[in-house]
Amino acid sequence: MKRENFGSRFGAIMAMTGSAVGLGNLWRFPYMVGVYGGAAFVLVYIIVVFLLCLPILNSEMITGRHGQTNAFGAFRKLAPGTGWKWAGVLMIFTPLVVLSYYSVIGGWSIEYLYKSVCFDFTAVSRTREDLDGIFSGYISSVWAPIAGHTVFLGATALIVVLGVRKGIENFGKVMMPLLFVLVILIAVRAATLPGAGEGFAYLFRPDFSKITPEVCAAALGQGFFSLSVGFGIMLTYASYMNKSDSIGKSSLLIATSDLLFALIASCAIMPAVFAFGLSPEAGPSLLFEVLPFIFSQMPAGGVIAILFFVALLVAALTSSVSILEVGVAWLVEEKHMSRKKASLVIFVGTWILGVICSLSFGPLSHIRIFGDIIFDFLDKFSSNVLMTVGALVIVLFVGWKMKKEDVRSEFTNGGTLRTEGRLFGIMYFIIRYAAPAAILVIMISNLI
Ligand code: PHE
Repeated sequence: MKRENFGSRFGAIMAMTGSAVGLGNLWRFPYMVGVYGGAAFVLVYIIVVFLLCLPILNSEMITGRHGQTNAFGAFRKLAPGTGWKWAGVLMIFTPLVVLSYYSVIGGWSIEYLYKSVCFDFTAVSRTREDLDGIFSGYISSVWAPIAGHTVFLGATALIVVLGVRKGIENFGKVMMPLLFVLVILIAVRAATLPGAGEGFAYLFRPDFSKITPEVCAAALGQGFFSLSVGFGIMLTYASYMNKSDSIGKSSLLIATSDLLFALIASCAIMPAVFAFGLSPEAGPSLLFEVLPFIFSQMPAGGVIAILFFVALLVAALTSSVSILEVGVAWLVEEKHMSRKKASLVIFVGTWILGVICSLSFGPLSHIRIFGDIIFDFLDKFSSNVLMTVGALVIVLFVGWKMKKEDVRSEFTNGGTLRTEGRLFGIMYFIIRYAAPAAILVIMISNLI
C-alpha cells in the first residue's frame, strides 16, 4: 500500500506548526513565565529553543523521513533486531498518555468558549472570587468536563479519520493562519490598555539574578512540550514529508513560529495582567481564572473573550490531531487496521484515561500518586520523565546508532542543499554530545 504524503511544503509546515503551537503556547508558556520570573525565563527559553530543541527536532525529523514509517516501525526498520524497538514503544505510549489529559483541557476551552459566547464573564459584573469559584466548581464537577472532553476528543478523531491530506493538512492550512490573526488582534487590544507597559517590561527586561538551574530545567521542559519533541509526533509527520523538502529549513520555520506564538500570546496576556494590577504568578489557573476577570473588566472584553477562546480551541485541536495520529499511524501500518477503526480504538482508550483524569479534580481527588492528583501526576510524569527520556533516546539514536552518512544525507537531501551541508557539522555535534549531556543534567536535576 502506498503511504499517504503531505501534498505541499506549505501544508507540511502548517501541520507541523499546528502540532507545535497549542495549549503549550497559549496556556502553559505565559503561566511558566509568570512562575519562573518573567524576562529571565523568556531569555533562557529563547536560547534553549534554538540551541537544543531545534537540533532535537531535527533528529526526530531525520529519523522519521529516513524511516518512512510510523514511530514504532521506524526504530524497528532502522535498527532491526535490537533493543531500540523499545524506543518505538515509548514513542507510541507517551502521546497516548498526553492526549488523555490534553483533551480534558481541550474540553475546558470548549466550555469557556461557550461561556464567552453567552457573555457569561461580561454580562454581569464579576469579581475575581466569582471567577475562581466558577472555574473550580466546573472542573470538580462530574458531567460537564467529561462532556467537553468527549466533544474535543471526538472532533480530533474525526479530523484524523479524514486522512493525512484531507484531514490533517487541510485543517492546518486554514486554521493556523486564522490563529495567527486572532492572537495578533488580541495582543493589539492588550497592548493599548493603560498600564500595559509594565507587562512588556516584565516580559522583556531580564533580571539576570533570576536565572537559576531550576529556571533552565523548566525552560527545557517547556521547549520539549511546546515543540512536541520526544513524542514520536514530529517523527510521524516527517515521514509524510516530501524527499525534496529541507528538514533544516522546515524545522527552523516551525521552531521560530512556535516561539513567536508563545511570545505574542504572552504579549496578549501579561500587559493585561499588569494593567489590572493582578499577579502574574497564578500558575495553571492564569488562563481560566485571571483572564476571564480581565475580560470582564476591559472595554470590548466580551468580544475579545470569544476570539481568545476560539484561538485556544483551534490551537489545541491542531495539536491533539497530531498526538492522535501517532497511534493511528502505528495501528494502521503495524496492525493493519483501517484508519477509521484505528481512530476509534485510540479514541476509546484515551477517552477512558481522560475521564479518570477529569474526575481526579472532583470525586477521585482523594487518589494521590506521590502526593499529586492523577491529572497533575500524568502531566508531570509525561513532561518531566517520558518526554525527556524520549528526547534523549532520539538524539542518542541519531547521534550514535544511525550511520553518520545517512544522517548527513537526510539533512542535506543527498548533498544537494549547500547551507545545510555547511551547518551539518555543528548540528551533528550538538546531537551527538551537547544535547544528550544537557538532557542528562536536566534529568538529574529533576530527580534531586
Ligand atoms: N506542542 C503542543 C503544545 O504546545 C502540544 C503537544 C504537546 C503536542 C505534547 C504533542 C505533545 O501545546
